[in-house]
Amino acid sequence: MRTVGWGILGLGNIAHKFATDLLLVKNTELIAVASSDLERAKAFSKKFQAQNYYDTYESLFDDPQVEIIYIASLHPRHAELSIAAMEKGKAVLCEKPLAMNQRQVEKMIAMAKSNEVFLMEGLWTRFNPSFSQAQEWITQGELGKIKYINATFSFNGMNIGDDSRLFNPEKGGGTLLDIGIYPLFLAYQLLGMPKDIKASAHLTKGGVDQQLAILLTYETSHAILYSSFAHDEDMRATIAGDAGEIYIDNRWHESPKLTLVKSEHRKSKVFDFLGKGYSYEIEEASQCIREGKKQSAKWSLKNSLELTQLMDTIRQFCGIHYPSDLD
Ligand SMILES: NC(=O)c1ccc[n+]([C@@H]2O[C@H](COP(=O)([O-])OP(=O)(O)OC[C@H]3O[C@@H](n4cnc5c(N)ncnc54)[C@H](OP(=O)(O)O)[C@@H]3O)[C@@H](O)[C@H]2O)c1
Repeated sequence: MRTVGWGILGLGNIAHKFATDLLLVKNTELIAVASSDLERAKAFSKKFQAQNYYDTYESLFDDPQVEIIYIASLHPRHAELSIAAMEKGKAVLCEKPLAMNQRQVEKMIAMAKSNEVFLMEGLWTRFNPSFSQAQEWITQGELGKIKYINATFSFNGMNIGDDSRLFNPEKGGGTLLDIGIYPLFLAYQLLGMPKDIKASAHLTKGGVDQQLAILLTYETSHAILYSSFAHDEDMRATIAGDAGEIYIDNRWHESPKLTLVKSEHRKSKVFDFLGKGYSYEIEEASQCIREGKKQSAKWSLKNSLELTQLMDTIRQFCGIHYPSDLD
């Protein structure tokens, strides 16, 4: 299996976790990293054994050894930077959310198609073995017909400060785009596009959602989803069907443990993750590159577009607006 050459752009919190996992994935190599800050790029390249480091993103786009770039900047720059990388012929794995809104996602997809390069949103939960197990049980009919999904994502971030990326609208703040995207992904992945959407949010003074409740209605089922920066909680996911239930342990989006319950019978599985779990999206993207694929069959560009459409609708309901909506 040939080695795929990776680059990373935007060397903050998630880039460190991602690079830690990248080192564990066979037949991949971190070739180069780029940051707006040269010292940060140098320290990162040393820590994660990258050959090259740059203080401009353009230099990374021009590095001939780099095949795929992981975009780990703040959400408002995802579209612009992914497009710039793809314009130079690079494949892109972009952090979630793929972009701020549907229009930006459409531009990204158009660039991926016209330049014939790979593009995927880093929705890592999709590739985790525990989530794949849940999907397998569902496909095998263990749950019967899914009637109800309940998933939440909350943590107490109230002391982080208004200028943090969680709360600042210029930085794409708010729970939906940051963490509410995970419960929404779960419902979308398992039930598809809903028939009806209702949502209600508590907004901060800056106008981003600090707490958000979503009700998705399907033909014969419901999804109740919730995200918050205002408190901690036990983040378990429930997928209930008329023949059984699946419970994914806290914190469900990254949990190695899940349980299938059928009447009095319980079957739990615990997976031994490779690293934190970013390794699985890295394996998927790398394999797509090796096979010359332009998108992942597991999390396609249509999937990202539809998830973004759902988020746009929820934002309209709640009056959540961003400066980038005006571009
Ligand atoms: N998949 C996951 O589990 C997960 C977890 C956390 C975050 N994320 C996603 O990853 C992305 C980054 O989140 P993070 O927590 O890593 O963010 P972060 O550490 O605050 O910042 C990431 C990078 O963005 C650039 N940046 C930060 N503030 C900036 C500013 N004011 N102006 C211009 N550039 C700025 C910097 O890049 P330079 O180094 O180039 O200066 C920084 O290193 C977000 O889109 C988030 O949704 C995903």
